Amino acid sequence: MCGLAGFFVGCELAESCKKSAISCESIKRNYASPFRNWDSRASVRSAPQRQLGDSETLFPSELVPITNHPLFGRKYEHLRSVICNLELLRFLDFTTKLEMVVVNDATAKVALGLFPFVLDDEAQLDAHRIYVDEAYHSLFSFQMAQNVRIRLGLNNCFELPQPAFLRRTNALVSGLDSQLRREYAKLFFVIISEMLITSTLNEARSYSGVDEGIRKLMSDHSSDEYRHHIFYRQLLEQIWPQIDIDTKEFFLSNLESFTAAYLRPDKKSLVKEMLFAGLQRDDAEQIFDETYVPDVVRSYDLACTQEIRTVLADLAHNTDGLSRELVLGISTGHTENISN
Ligand SMILES: [Fe+2]
Ligand SMILES: [Fe+2]
Repeated sequence: MCGLAGFFVGCELAESCKKSAISCESIKRNYASPFRNWDSRASVRSAPQRQLGDSETLFPSELVPITNHPLFGRKYEHLRSVICNLELLRFLDFTTKLEMVVVNDATAKVALGLFPFVLDDEAQLDAHRIYVDEAYHSLFSFQMAQNVRIRLGLNNCFELPQPAFLRRTNALVSGLDSQLRREYAKLFFVIISEMLITSTLNEARSYSGVDEGIRKLMSDHSSDEYRHHIFYRQLLEQIWPQIDIDTKEFFLSNLESFTAAYLRPDKKSLVKEMLFAGLQRDDAEQIFDETYVPDVVRSYDLACTQEIRTVLADLAHNTDGLSRELVLGISTGHTENISN
């Protein structure tokens, strides 16, 4: 029985409640909180507001592969700084919406115990801490984006499209036939993105051409995300034995789509940036298509998702008796039915 004593007496779901059938102790004994020092270490509690530095180019070319295409170098070298700064703006917008629209939607439901799985009490408290962290990440990304717009003199004359990860996850989720399956799908996307974002931030802040204020902002974010990564990996391990085989099958057979939703380049946004900066449409399309060739995109996906696929292969093997090779094959796009 869930909820405060007395609130759900007579609940008609009590007899079939999955939470009541699960041994809480077996779930709770394995959680190790990475948030013990959160009150003194979290960025929201300890870091000052970051200010833009003096760099003319705020984001390095190394993080903007389209600027390294030969056609860009030949015809548009004078636009390199503009494109790099627009990419920073898009990165900040991506972060704001990822945290506010997606991560905190699922994190709030975990924190409030709205999923039909049992969670360690300390983990539920940590979900509240993550909710606070993510709200702060959204705030400082949005505020920094406003400052970048002022610096670039953009005001409201350049509107970014909805980020691709939102369009892609909406497409994945909207085809599902039950509310619970849709909520799990959104949670799976959050688990994946939370396990990927730390390396994204660490990679980005390591380049020398990152503006000093942006680097500090990324460092604040990265140190919080290190704890989130540990939390969400453990959450996956805790909930896996508690979810039904159809939901597991959906997740494994769509894993590549979930990871691609987060990782793959956003053509609509990148082409719009290039057109705004002054490239001709044919050149912008050619530069995008020849920079992000399918083999390069796919091998990047595989390199980034190795940990997630290994964790899932171990879980499916240990919990469901599936072979690791089968799960790794499914999760890399060689889909088979795992119910059999
Ligand atoms: Fe975050
Ligand atoms: Fe996070």
